[in-house]
Amino acid sequence: MSGSPLSVVVLISGSGSNLQALIDAVQQGSLPIRIRAVIANEADAFGLERARRAAIETRILSHRDYPDRPAFDAALMDLIDGFQPDLVVLAGFMRILTPGLVAHYRGRMLNIHPSLLPKFRGLHTHERALEVGEREHGATVHFVTEELDGGPAVLQAVVPVEPDDDAARLAARVLILEHRIYPQVVLWFAQGRLLLGADGLPRLDGEALQQPLRLDNLTTELTS
Ligand code: GRF
Repeated sequence: MSGSPLSVVVLISGSGSNLQALIDAVQQGSLPIRIRAVIANEADAFGLERARRAAIETRILSHRDYPDRPAFDAALMDLIDGFQPDLVVLAGFMRILTPGLVAHYRGRMLNIHPSLLPKFRGLHTHERALEVGEREHGATVHFVTEELDGGPAVLQAVVPVEPDDDAARLAARVLILEHRIYPQVVLWFAQGRLLLGADGLPRLDGEALQQPLRLDNLTTELTS
């Protein structure tokens, strides 16, 4: 890659362990991006602390200060665009986004969702996977589109469901793999190898992904 590193803004609402995985990869020299800012809609999000420790700029924008969703999203878009990012990374950002905001960042906004999409969109994914007796579960990194948790999927991490799993145990195993697949997808984007095609399919190295890639089929370049 030549020129300046990819400029990234990360949006969080909570713990920020996925943010931490990105920070760690940057600090290890394996992810050539600059995290320009971390924005949280919750003032007590621990991810803000992680960002401060890494000397990354932070901003808090509370949705409670806005009368409605469009007003909050307009302010959010202004705030993000002030940093002129090449990529916006949603990392546990617990907000439904308006179509206008999603359209504005088409092809340059990623999300991670803790299920094997299209299964289990929305909340409580681990509980729901257990309830219906899934044999495998996992997480998906996808481009963000207007459909909630429905955007084109790039990479999935798969874990087998164990007989004695509860939601917390299952979530913990999935989260470990989230920390591998998110930096991997951001790396592909930073390298210019990944984009969202006009047909709505992700393209990796020029090849349209009809199905997401799976971590178990991958020789990952970033992590081992
Ligand atoms: C992760 O499980 C992610 O898939 C979901 O929210 C959780 C965020 O965790 N979108 P963290 O804040 O990155 O620790």
